[in-house]
Amino acid sequence: MKGVVFTVFLEMVEEKFSADMVDDILRDANPENGGAYTSVGTYSHEEIVALVVSLSQHSGIAVPDLLKAFGEYLFAQFALSYPQMISARADVFSFLSGIEDVIHSEVRKLYPDAQLPRFDIEHPAKGTMVMVYRSIRHFEDLCEGLILGCIKHFGESIALSRSTVGDGPGRAERFELTRGA
Ligand code: HEM
Repeated sequence: MKGVVFTVFLEMVEEKFSADMVDDILRDANPENGGAYTSVGTYSHEEIVALVVSLSQHSGIAVPDLLKAFGEYLFAQFALSYPQMISARADVFSFLSGIEDVIHSEVRKLYPDAQLPRFDIEHPAKGTMVMVYRSIRHFEDLCEGLILGCIKHFGESIALSRSTVGDGPGRAERFELTRGA
């Protein structure tokens, strides 16, 4: 997992909780580098999970809720850091339709070792878009938060629902976005 995800996470914890909370969760999770993440570094994705689990224990907020909130925060940060990736797209559906070919492929150019999920996009009916998310890291909740952050960013009225499809190694998460709901 790229360091940028860690630095934004710790920034969110400091802003929404406190600097002491950052110290507490770093002490609990005890990452190899002592928490000195750099945005271009690469760290085990299990470390971010350990930090979120510790934040959950200290705050009493469930892990999926924290991951979702973090996804929303992360999208807002991405929008600030990479405005050119977002400004070229007019709305949520056109932005998210380009997640593989435009957004994450640009990310791969910036960070060749990025570990990115796979998305299959469908447009089953006018006003509806489906994103099927697959990743061995299973950040479904983070993904939901990123999509919600994207909807908020564009200020559109879109309802989001999700369901799990398949099981075992083929398990995927299906996100359905419906306009005007
Ligand atoms: C400008 C917008 C975006 C940028 C710059 C961006 C960039 C990134 C970066 C740098 C990572 C970390 C890769 C790594 O750790 O090696 C990542 C991971 C991820 N991104 Fe994006 N992303 C953007 C938008 C989105 C959106 C809208 C979604 C959801 C539809 C999304 C879904 C994910 C997920 C779920 C991961 C975690 C890795 C995994 O699940 O395997 N991203 N992205």
